[in-house]
Amino acid sequence: MNVDGKPFRTVWWENDRVRMIDQPRLPHEFRIVDMASHRDTAVAIRDMTVRGAGAIGATGALGLAQAAVEAPDGSFFEYVAAAANLLRGTRPTAQNLFAGIDYVLKAIEAEGSDVARARAAAVAAGNAFADDDAASCRRIGELGAPLLAERPRVNTHCNAGWLAFVDWGSALSPIYVARRGGLDVSVWVDETRPRQQGSQLTAWELGQEGVPHQVIADNATGHYMAHGQIDITIVGSDRIAANGDVANKIGTYSSALAAAANGIPFYVAAPTTTIAMHTPTGADIPIEERSEDEVLYVWGWSDDGRFIRVRTAPRTSKGRNPAFDVTPAALIAGIITERGIVPATPEGIASVARR
Ligand code: MRU
Repeated sequence: MNVDGKPFRTVWWENDRVRMIDQPRLPHEFRIVDMASHRDTAVAIRDMTVRGAGAIGATGALGLAQAAVEAPDGSFFEYVAAAANLLRGTRPTAQNLFAGIDYVLKAIEAEGSDVARARAAAVAAGNAFADDDAASCRRIGELGAPLLAERPRVNTHCNAGWLAFVDWGSALSPIYVARRGGLDVSVWVDETRPRQQGSQLTAWELGQEGVPHQVIADNATGHYMAHGQIDITIVGSDRIAANGDVANKIGTYSSALAAAANGIPFYVAAPTTTIAMHTPTGADIPIEERSEDEVLYVWGWSDDGRFIRVRTAPRTSKGRNPAFDVTPAALIAGIITERGIVPATPEGIASVARR
């Protein structure tokens, strides 16, 4: 997608480094950062320099490829196994991270004991996984765009745009395809407390693509639904369980309840790398709990150009900060994948899941 008219990906491989857009700096500063080793890449995932299910999946895959390049010949397989564990431990919820790591591990295993070939296979697999994410997201856009013909006023939560993937995005991809096809589409962007992926990332992306949008506080979504201002909601997902329950950014469940109460179709868009057939229901999805500081403070740019945090809650208050919640399958109108739009049922999920 474009930044100031120039095509960019969210994360990519260059000279054995993993390069990525520094997301916490957006929308005020656009900068690229380089991860020189797989350990740096793991920190970038954990600290959310790169975030969003598809983007961290590709970053995990490329991070493991980096480990394969770094690994000494004599302890290649031990080094790679330790790196895979490190990368797996960075964030617990998004299935794409585990899919990316497993994809590269499989490519390495296929080369048997030939270290030179395994190294080359790891780099090729990391890049192939990233390319596959971009292609799947583009297809999600093509399949999802027709839904907007009769329902052009879209609501979304968090960021499931191209910054959350390698390119295109999941929930935002149908919007980009529809817009490029000439449809007069507009977006209600949930701010998405506490990390504000909506106001900071989604709004920025939509602006770069020239899509009209308005940022609303998370607690305004039900109001606009009740007043007939929202035609459809499309969100992304971090993990889809085998029964069709969906984990996504905290606050998604509340939006789905409000959509159901107002008769608004609530869609989930995700590549099939987000599906976890080994996770039977939403109750089995591990929900990341992040630092209470993300709730008790906000980050922003001061008038004198410093990136600072300020505390908004009383000094003595404690906080809780679940990063995701689960939306039950019954509240979901359909799941838009690169393999088709399917119902959020065990049969629907099984029909598109990767084996
Ligand atoms: O915690 P983050 O910023 O990595 O959140 C993940 C997400 O981007 C959202 O939950 C998103 O809506 C899922 S689609 C990538």
